[in-house]
Amino acid sequence: MIALIRMNLDIEPSEIASSLRLRRAASSLAILRKRYGKILILSHRGRPKGRDGKLSLRPISEALSKAIRKKIIFLDNSDLCFAREAFFEGEPGVYMLENLRFLSGENDNDPVLAKKLASLGEVFVNDDFATAHRAAASNVGITSFIRSLPGPTLKDEVAALKKAVKRPARPFVLVVGGVKMSDKLPVIDKLLPAVDRVLLGGGVGNTFIKASGSNVGKSVYEKNLIKEASRLSLDDKVVFPIDCRMKAGSILDIGPNTAALYASVIKEAGTVIWAGPLGCFETKGFSGGSEVVAKACATTKAYTLIGGGETTSIVIGMKLDKKIGFMSTGGGAMLDFLAGKKLPALDVLKISY
Ligand code: 3PG
Repeated sequence: MIALIRMNLDIEPSEIASSLRLRRAASSLAILRKRYGKILILSHRGRPKGRDGKLSLRPISEALSKAIRKKIIFLDNSDLCFAREAFFEGEPGVYMLENLRFLSGENDNDPVLAKKLASLGEVFVNDDFATAHRAAASNVGITSFIRSLPGPTLKDEVAALKKAVKRPARPFVLVVGGVKMSDKLPVIDKLLPAVDRVLLGGGVGNTFIKASGSNVGKSVYEKNLIKEASRLSLDDKVVFPIDCRMKAGSILDIGPNTAALYASVIKEAGTVIWAGPLGCFETKGFSGGSEVVAKACATTKAYTLIGGGETTSIVIGMKLDKKIGFMSTGGGAMLDFLAGKKLPALDVLKISY
């Protein structure tokens, strides 16, 4: 059987070593290769405007090939008829098509492109949770033209997120960091009534510190969300940093007292969801807050769910990933799931969430 597998390989080559997405793709392939004799991986990288060599999937296909210890035949996609011929006539094995976002119509869920993609195989397996919030030709449109089913990673992601959100063991703790509060606001709003504590850091935390009337100097924060932060701060479940680590007038990490406070809350929790680093972890000396929280997540008895590329990289870099309940490959998709939004790629597969 010839299978098309949609995977998430939206990875920077510099992040390959700590990439959760690459590991998940490799373990899914171990399962799917037993089921299908011939596999064509469909994926994307970045947000190219047209064909852009810097966003080719080729280096990722080489890394995945090493991870599965099996050659992956890479197919250009500038001529899909040609790619189809090469795939159909080629030997059984694993193939990968160049970045789908080089094709016009992919992002607009164009039915013409969706039909062409469907013609490349006999069955379509969507194993890409991280694009579930997008309606593209390769994850939504394609399902109108070919038998379609969810893959192992996609199923695991939905089950883990449902477990955390629908039946949380208490206390239920949400840890939110990252640069932009605008990305995280819908999640905080949606989950606030359900959680017992929301612990904040990063640029999100800075916006709350500013809203409390404190000076944040040159720190990153969102001016237009100060009112929202003040509103949310009225709820005493919401906790923002009580001390910070600074450099040249900017807050770059939560301080040691905040980190200790957050670790103690996580230790007593029943469920923890963490999205977004709590400081500027790439800057030497400012990853401490995220590291304390990562260790707390690894040692608590709580069910822990961690998502987002940067947050999962920190945990993998510290070799704590095996001690976490579930690590999500989703960035925006996980946030949309948690915010209770519609996920078109799950809807077309009739997956309940
Ligand atoms: C991601 O990195 O979260 C997914 O690959 C989706 O990418 P997008 O936000 O560019 O659609």
